[in-house]
Amino acid sequence: MSGGDCIVQLVAVDTGRSGTKVVTDGMRDYFPSVLGEFRELRLERKMNRTDMVIEYKDQRYYVGEVARDESVSGAQMMVKTKAHQDTKIFALAALHHVVPNGAHLFVVTGEPIDNHTAGEKLRMKQLLLGSHDITVNGEEKHFDIVRVEVAAEGATAGWALHRPGRYHIVDAGSRTVNFATMDGGRWIDRLSGSMDFGLETGQNISLSMFARMTIAELSRRVGSLAPIVLVGGKADALVEYMEQYTSDVEAHPDPLYANANAFYALGVKALETATAQQ
Ligand SMILES: Nc1ncnc2c1ncn2[C@@H]1O[C@H](COP(=O)(O)OP(=O)(O)OP(=O)(O)O)[C@@H](O)[C@H]1O
Ligand SMILES: [Mg+2]
Repeated sequence: MSGGDCIVQLVAVDTGRSGTKVVTDGMRDYFPSVLGEFRELRLERKMNRTDMVIEYKDQRYYVGEVARDESVSGAQMMVKTKAHQDTKIFALAALHHVVPNGAHLFVVTGEPIDNHTAGEKLRMKQLLLGSHDITVNGEEKHFDIVRVEVAAEGATAGWALHRPGRYHIVDAGSRTVNFATMDGGRWIDRLSGSMDFGLETGQNISLSMFARMTIAELSRRVGSLAPIVLVGGKADALVEYMEQYTSDVEAHPDPLYANANAFYALGVKALETATAQQ
């Protein structure tokens, strides 16, 4: 993997509204996507890996569990787009966890299917490309993001399964449910999209009602249902509720990391294609 005269490391980052997942060669990590202001604590807190004090461009933030517990403004950002400052902080914090100081990076990240437009992709690239200095829990790292690709959530996980025939991949996220219809290895855009609700947007909605809403909306949008593969953090738990409406439902073997792993696979393919064209 060479980019100019330096080695470029491929890293995939899935900046979910509930959790940030990062995957690179032989390493993966997760932390809650909660961000808030930094405050000096009077009572000592035993900080762990998902408690982060971030210093970036003269600002200090709490990220992860500590933001949920200790920041007055600590919150998950639930707006539809991911092309905003919080995503940048989560992505940089995730990179800090898995890459060495001084690395040159090719980052593959994602957006919900309905946001997977040229304009949104460009905003995401502008957000992440370039040189960054970020300090996490006192350790400063510098890295250069030299290439960014923006994949479609859910759809990329569907592509990475490489299954024959027709199937739907349903990515039940905290803010958005993405669904993609794959047929013979191709992604059918007309039968794919995003639903404007998620596991953490319905007030007190049970998993059973969430499953019912998702199947109702999916069948409205795609007509007759093909087999369903569920991804996202609650995929395993959702299967039994969806089975009440359609018999052919299964959870992805690695549901929480399905998008991040697929983004990584897409990056590998992009690098192979570039090499083949040289
Ligand atoms: N290991 C787990 N077991 C059970 N539930 C989990 C697990 N990990 C995450 N969850 C829950 O599953 C839900 C979906 O998580 P997921 O990480 O897939 O969403 P997200 O990608 O952050 O959200 P979005 O895709 O909408 O941005 C969340 O409510 C989360 O709390
Ligand atoms: Mg997600």
